[in-house]
Amino acid sequence: MTSRVVQQPACFDFAPNDRLRALPARYYVEADVLAREREQVFFRSWQYACHIDQLDGHGAYVATEIMGQNVFVVRDRDGELKAFYNVCPHRGHKLLEGAGHKKVIVCPYHQWSYSLDGKLRHDRSTASSETPDVSAICLAPVRVDRLFDFVFVNLDPGAEPIADFWPGLEEQVKSAIPDLDRYQLSAQASALHSVDVKANWKIQVDNFLECYHCRIGHESFADMLDVARQKQTLHPNYSYVFIPSSGKVDNKAYPLLPEHDVMDLHFWHLFPNIALAQFAGPGNLSLSQWTPRGMDRAYRDIVQLDIAEPTDPGMLERRELRTAWARDVLQQEDIAFMESVHEGMSQRCFEHGWYMIDPDNQEISEVMLRHFHETYLHFMQERAV
Ligand code: FES
Ligand SMILES: [Fe+2]
Repeated sequence: MTSRVVQQPACFDFAPNDRLRALPARYYVEADVLAREREQVFFRSWQYACHIDQLDGHGAYVATEIMGQNVFVVRDRDGELKAFYNVCPHRGHKLLEGAGHKKVIVCPYHQWSYSLDGKLRHDRSTASSETPDVSAICLAPVRVDRLFDFVFVNLDPGAEPIADFWPGLEEQVKSAIPDLDRYQLSAQASALHSVDVKANWKIQVDNFLECYHCRIGHESFADMLDVARQKQTLHPNYSYVFIPSSGKVDNKAYPLLPEHDVMDLHFWHLFPNIALAQFAGPGNLSLSQWTPRGMDRAYRDIVQLDIAEPTDPGMLERRELRTAWARDVLQQEDIAFMESVHEGMSQRCFEHGWYMIDPDNQEISEVMLRHFHETYLHFMQERAV
């Protein structure tokens, strides 16, 4: 199939009317887009790897992957975080699986061994062996950085640190969630973990970036929160929305206890595929990451943090009710929307949608969605035409 993606220099110079035209449908459905996204977007941006608690002690490691590129993060002997491609320089075997602790990293294939800083220690050569210079061989490094207790990796050696790529984000989250230090990885067996949705990853992100559909599509959500008074702000490579409480403790979503619970909603979209969210209810913060599995399917992996100590005798029950509502109500409502939109994007008549932009009525405004798309096109170094 001929590519409908026209390659042009990075550009934000849409004429004013063009800025109401949404990202063309071809970016959601045409197979060649995914290969460019891997290189231009996913291999040049910060991707979630693990929670810091999974790297407890020297030699603790977690193996992960970014769209087929195998990576591991390890805590070295000085306690520093390091990340490497998970591939042995000898002949390419994978070095580590899953998570655990290693004093030395030993390749399972021919037992070349590496120290925690990635240097080759031993290649099993003898005096008569013809070998390369051991000091010249080391694992290929990957950028690693932290946002709170979330550990991220970036395959772009020249990537900006997180503090520069998402400027001001850390301060903004801390000010919105002052008790963040009291949260830890959820021990809840029923916590949401991973959701497989038959829709392009950008459709799933788009769905989270506007609340135009909330009042109609999420009756219980819009009963618990005052969607009309939401406040959206745009920042370099991220956006933030605050939705205040409706004040109804016995709302149609789940019960709230104002003395102990968070009452509002905070949501951040971190370009390209990450969301941080704090929902009403017992103290919490979730990180979601959408990962494509082809053009028409993506996983949303969810890491849930909860307040460590119960604040009151009913807290655990309220938390369970929130989880059940998020899984069985809110998520199901959104999945139906997203899968239908993906089908719509595939229709031959549908070239592009339209943005609704309204600075005075942010409930219906899709400005965060447009911000995402403009950043996306900038990374893709393309202009939508
Ligand atoms: S491939 Fe790793 S030691 Fe040979
Ligand atoms: Fe939704």
